[in-house]
Formats: sequence, structure tokens, C-alpha cells
Amino acid sequence: EDNRVESRGALVVLEGLDRSGKSSQCSRLVSFLERQGISAELWRFPDRSTNVGQMISAYLANTSQLDDRTIHLLFSANRWEKRSLMETKLTTGTTLIVDRYSYSGVAFSSAKGLDLEWCKAPEIGLLAPDVVIYLDISPEKAADRGGYGGERYEKLEFQKKVAESYKVLYDASWKVVDAFQSIEDVEKELQDIVLDNPITSL
Ligand code: TMP
Ligand code: MG
Repeated sequence: EDNRVESRGALVVLEGLDRSGKSSQCSRLVSFLERQGISAELWRFPDRSTNVGQMISAYLANTSQLDDRTIHLLFSANRWEKRSLMETKLTTGTTLIVDRYSYSGVAFSSAKGLDLEWCKAPEIGLLAPDVVIYLDISPEKAADRGGYGGERYEKLEFQKKVAESYKVLYDASWKVVDAFQSIEDVEKELQDIVLDNPITSL
């Protein structure tokens, strides 16, 4: 029985701390969906390819300084500038696997002490995900993995605060995956989650 409810694509968001494995799992998931004959694309935020994205990238690389609220709004603007393309892709049947979305925006900025409701406000009206997957790893284990690239937020003390912020944002609809398993075990869990969704199930 084909229980796909619509021919639109699904908006699948992966969230988690830096070094939780999101980026490699997102590409593996896209390849898996393509092998199943499902049209899928890998997206990521920040999208550093745009003008706004380049400002964000310079801020993260510490080559520019911006006020906390200013950078917060730029991260949000970077999602807004992709909104209509995102909508087109979804309505024409492409599933989007998105590496970070609004939750990162709110978790990272509120970890700096900005008001939670203020942080959420500019995200209102962006497309709502069909599935949110949280790759769960402790800040200590993530830091032990090494390979923090030296960007602004890649510091254990700050990541601990971000982990606390994610807990505040956590919603019972989120799928939480233990990100400290082997790459293959995490990959399998993600595949099951996505295939279990009515929009992407075969
Ligand atoms: P990346 O490593 O996934 O490219 O993300 C760069 C950093 O930006 C990462 O530390 C998370 C942070 N971030 C925010 O602070 N706000 C946002 O809205 C997004 C998407 C990412
Ligand atoms: Mg990073």
C-alpha cells in the first residue's frame, strides 16, 4: 500500500551541537533517499553562499565583530532569503534534509543570554519542519572528537550552554538519536525515522 499522503517533499531538519555528526549524517541520508528513488537535496544553514551568508561566515571566523542581536537577525535573514526556494522544492516533490534550522538560531543566541521569546520572533513564518531529529551527544564527548575548526562557538564552555538551550526548546515531537553510536548505527536510525514519516515512506 502506498501510504504517501501527498506528492510534496518532506522538510527534515537535523539539529545538534557542533561535532555531533550532523553534516556527514545529512549527506548519508540524502544518498540513501536517492537510492530509494526519493528526490532529495541536502541543505544547510547558515547557507554561506549568499551575501548574508558571507557576513555570517566572517563573524564565525572572527574576522568581523557583530552585536549579538545583529548576528541573530542575520542568521534568521539567511533562512528567510531561502524560504521561497525551499517552498518551491517541497511543493514540487523534493525532500529537503536540512543541516540546522531555526532551532540552532534560537539555541545558540539564547545561550548567550538573549531573551528566548525575542530569539524566536524572527523565525515566525518560516516553513515548519515535518520532522526534527536531534543528534544527541554530550558537549564533552563532542569536544573529545576533536576537529573543532576554531570557529567562534566551537568551545566546550559555550557548547554546554547551547546543550541547555536545546533542552529548553525540546518538544515531544522531536526524534532524539544517540549520536555517540557508530556512524552506521546512527545512519540506520535516521533512515528508519525518515521512512516512518508519511510523506517519505515508500
Ligand atoms: P555550521 O558549523 O553548521 O556551519 O554552523 C556554524 C555555527 O553557527 C554553529 O556553531 C552553529 C551556529 N548557528 C547559529 O548560531 N545560529 C543559526 O541560526 C545557525 C543556523 C547556526
Ligand atoms: Mg561548524
